[in-house]
Amino acid sequence: MFCCNFSDKVLEHFMAPRNSGSMVDADSIGTAGDPACGDSLTLYIKVKDNIIEDISFMVFGCVAAIATSSMTTELAKGKYLDEAYKITDQDIADALDGLPEQKMHCSVLGATALKNAIDNYYSKINGK
Ligand code: FES
Repeated sequence: MFCCNFSDKVLEHFMAPRNSGSMVDADSIGTAGDPACGDSLTLYIKVKDNIIEDISFMVFGCVAAIATSSMTTELAKGKYLDEAYKITDQDIADALDGLPEQKMHCSVLGATALKNAIDNYYSKINGK
């Protein structure tokens, strides 16, 4: 059915993405895109007491982009900003029981958009 040998977890997150959708009252937004394939991700975060209390995403992308975006939100939700900032593309792939080698680049979208959202949040509260 799909081009790659995806793990059951990838397919589960692709079929039923967690925390999908935009967020009208987000405290910050982060985006990331892959110019090579044209896929793009927008992440929304709601922050309280330096904790990501809510997070959601909108993605235009492949199976792996959808699954990794979903997993990014699961990993980041409830974490302190500084902890969430350390989430890597490898962490996201590992949490999905791995990605096919040719799809590893898709997990970069989630990690990058999350860092951008956190950077933008700090810029906003610091008035920059
Ligand atoms: Fe573009 Fe997966 S092929 S993010």
